[in-house]
Amino acid sequence: MGKIKSHQKLPTEWNKREILRDKGQFWTPSWVADAMVSYVAENTDLVFDPATGRGAFYEALLKLNIPKVSFFGADVDQEVLEDGIYNHKNCFVEKRDFIKNPPQRKFKAIVANPPYIRHHRIDEKTKTLLKQLSISITGDTIDGRAGYHIYFLIQALNLLEKNGKLAFIMPADTCEGKFAKNLWKWISEKFCIEGVITFDEGATPFPKVDTNAIVLLIKNSTPTEKLHWVKANQAYSTDLFNFISSNFKQQKYETLEIINRQLKEGIATGFSRPEQNHTRFKFHLNDFANVMRGIATGSNEFFFLTAQKVKELQIPKVFLKRAVGRTKDATESVLTVKNVEELEKENRPTYLLSINGHDKLPKSISNYLKIGEEMGLPGRSLIQQRKPWYKMEKREVPPLLFAYLGRRNIRFIKNEAGVLPLTGFLCVYPIYDDKDFIENLWKALNHPDTLENLKLVGKSYGSGAIKVEPGNLNRLPIPDHIVNLFDLKRPYKTNTGQLEIFR
Ligand SMILES: C[S@@+](CC[C@H](N)C(=O)[O-])C[C@H]1O[C@@H](n2cnc3c(N)ncnc32)[C@H](O)[C@@H]1O
Repeated sequence: MGKIKSHQKLPTEWNKREILRDKGQFWTPSWVADAMVSYVAENTDLVFDPATGRGAFYEALLKLNIPKVSFFGADVDQEVLEDGIYNHKNCFVEKRDFIKNPPQRKFKAIVANPPYIRHHRIDEKTKTLLKQLSISITGDTIDGRAGYHIYFLIQALNLLEKNGKLAFIMPADTCEGKFAKNLWKWISEKFCIEGVITFDEGATPFPKVDTNAIVLLIKNSTPTEKLHWVKANQAYSTDLFNFISSNFKQQKYETLEIINRQLKEGIATGFSRPEQNHTRFKFHLNDFANVMRGIATGSNEFFFLTAQKVKELQIPKVFLKRAVGRTKDATESVLTVKNVEELEKENRPTYLLSINGHDKLPKSISNYLKIGEEMGLPGRSLIQQRKPWYKMEKREVPPLLFAYLGRRNIRFIKNEAGVLPLTGFLCVYPIYDDKDFIENLWKALNHPDTLENLKLVGKSYGSGAIKVEPGNLNRLPIPDHIVNLFDLKRPYKTNTGQLEIFR
């Protein structure tokens, strides 16, 4: 296998990619493409890329300079195929839709950066086709939330010859989405997952794109119990290429963290996340609190009002509840009444229209509801399930709020203002009303050792942000030493004033 000389062309490649990104096509950077191609190009005479774009992988293959290895690329976009890079001997490209019209043959080497098209941008007709595709290949349907890239992976695995190799760069949702469990069960039973490469925030292959990438290196051979799991800590280093082209043999590199990871654990945790021994944690958030999502109004524009609007519409206070909407509206670790008043001064909405339980409505409210009807609100998806349509979801005021998306250090906010959160937050209800307990739990949750564990239950994005769904936040592990440090197991007063010991 050939050697790569230098990766120092960074700025020009960077600019080129910035321009291309405007077209919604994210090209693979050379330091990752080189490593991926070095994995598949061994023992083959042809490398196939089903989403070849402007030829990032072909360029990598040319650099490897292995005699007698040809390239076959396909793409739906004719324009990209006219790129000068493809004017070479032993290089064939064609316009082809890999999902609707895959090649009728198998391959020894497949490499791709498939299009990341999320499920809500896929039309119904194509969704039906994708469903059939997954049934015919895997014997089962894949959850409807899987994006286009997942079907690219399935289709490509199905075209892999015995002992053939595949390298795909995918978004991390491949390992974290709802569909991941079934997908990985199928892959791990049929194929050998040889390697998984993840990237530190500072080394993300797609900077500024809200996607955390992961590279999968899979062989069509008998599955093994362990795999090479890598975290790359520095972009444009040749370490990744050298590691993979050494056939995973040489394991000491300055910019890489390499572990031999158990397949079972990796699948259970999700390969995009670091290794986790689940039994390591005795305590989870739901031992101390319950989590619910914030209120979904169905139309913040109509139901979530500024003080000025309230005044204008003359809505009486009894029909209003104090609320916060955007994560940006609560950035400190405590949200006070003063903070909410400041938001009000900045003309941010802080009043939630809450008409539940009132039979007689004043004229000001019925007039406003008429406006809502004219806006077509009663027919909107979430609202049409409610009777009457303006009925608001009910929540008790949560003592703690959780900012569910972001990269901030403070995630758990003490709700001293007594506001109701909308969907930018999750509600955290501690199991005891005892003030000391709430205070201690809040500190324990914001401790860096606890926050570090958000990675284990959340979905990670390229920007370093983590999003955590309510059900998953309940499973947030709280380390033993933090439970002890903040005295969470001592007796606290229950809601009825009695002392209760944590069991
Ligand atoms: C993320 S780009 C990757 C391009 C290139 N391989 C790289 O890594 O730089 C994905 C490419 O897939 C193409 N594409 C989208 N849908 C496709 C389909 N159904 N079949 C084949 N190619 C498709 C797009 O036009 C785009 O060029």
